[in-house]
Amino acid sequence: MATESQKAEIKVLDDNLKIFSGSSNAALADAVCEYLGIEVGHARIERFPDGERFIRVEDDVRGRDCFVMQSTCKPVDEHLVGLLIYLDCLRRASARRITAVIPYFGYARQDRKDEGRVPITAKLVANLIVTAGADRVLAVDLHAPQLQGFFDIPVDHLTGELVLSRYFRDKQIANLAVVSPDVGNMKTAAMYAAHLGGELAIVHKKRVSGSEVEASEIIGDVQGRNVLMCDDIIATAGTICSAAKLVERLGAEKIYVGATHGVFAAEALERLADAPIDEIVVTDTIPLSDEAKKVKNIKVLSAADMLGEAIRRIHKDESVSSLFNGSD
Ligand code: R5P
Repeated sequence: MATESQKAEIKVLDDNLKIFSGSSNAALADAVCEYLGIEVGHARIERFPDGERFIRVEDDVRGRDCFVMQSTCKPVDEHLVGLLIYLDCLRRASARRITAVIPYFGYARQDRKDEGRVPITAKLVANLIVTAGADRVLAVDLHAPQLQGFFDIPVDHLTGELVLSRYFRDKQIANLAVVSPDVGNMKTAAMYAAHLGGELAIVHKKRVSGSEVEASEIIGDVQGRNVLMCDDIIATAGTICSAAKLVERLGAEKIYVGATHGVFAAEALERLADAPIDEIVVTDTIPLSDEAKKVKNIKVLSAADMLGEAIRRIHKDESVSSLFNGSD
C-alpha cells in the first residue's frame, strides 16, 4: 500500500498523473487508482451506429504523464483495438508521456515461427502498440520475458509471483514441492521455490494439439508431499490438469495451483472440476467470467497494489525492478 505521505505527494502531482481505463478491466483500474489515492481519468466511450468505437478523453492531458490500463483478454481483438484507439487519442491530445499498462497481454504465445506460413502476433501487436503512441509499457508476466525485446520502448515487466507467493507463504504449506507443469516454466517455479522453500520438480509435457497435452514424466519427487504448481497462464487448463493427475498418481497429498492469468477458455472449467486440485489461485489481470465465479475452489488475488506501486514509481522516475528484490 502507498504510504500516507506517498499518497499526499501523488495528490499534489495528481493533476500531472492521469490513469485511464479501457473497457476490459475497469475494476482493476479502480483498485489501482484507490491504491494511489487518485480518481480514474474521465473519458467518453461510445459506438457509432456502424459499430465503430469513439473515445473522447474528457480531462486535460496536455503535458501530463498518462497511463492507459487495458488487458487484451477475451474478446481479444476488441480490447486490443480499444487500447490502440485510446493511445492514439492521448497522443493527439499532447500527453507528455503515455504508458500502456497491459496486465494481460493477449497474442503473446504466438512469438515465433514454429512452422511455415504463420504470423508472429506478439511482435505484430507490440508494433501496433508503439505505432499507436505508447512511450512505455507496463506488463505482467508476458508469457516469455524476452517479449520485452519486441517493443523498442522501455518495458517494465512485473510478475504475479510477487502476489501469489505472498498468499502461499501465509498458508505455511508443510512438506512442500513446487512443481513446474512444463519445462518452459522452470525459472518461475524456481523463483517460487526460492521464496517459499521446498523441493523443486519439473513435469515433462508433450503438446498433442492446441488444447490437448500429455504429462507423462517428472523430474523430482512429489511422493507424500503437498504440491504447488505454478504457471503464467491457465487457458484450456490442459497443462495444469494433466500435471495434476500425474502428481496425484505419483502420491502427492494436497495439490495447489498458482497462475497469474486465469484465461479459462472454453473447456477449462470442466477440466478443472474433474482434476485433483484443492485450490486454484489466479490474479485479477483478467476479470473472472460468471461461469468461473461459480467454481468454488478458484480464488482471485488482486494485482492492483503491485501495479499501483509500479505506476507510482514510473511516475516518480524511481526503480521498478527494486519492487522485486526489496532493495527499497
Ligand atoms: C505454456 O507454455 C504456458 O506456460 C502455459 O502452461 C500454457 O500456455 C497453458 O495453456 P493451457 O491451459 O491451454 O494448457
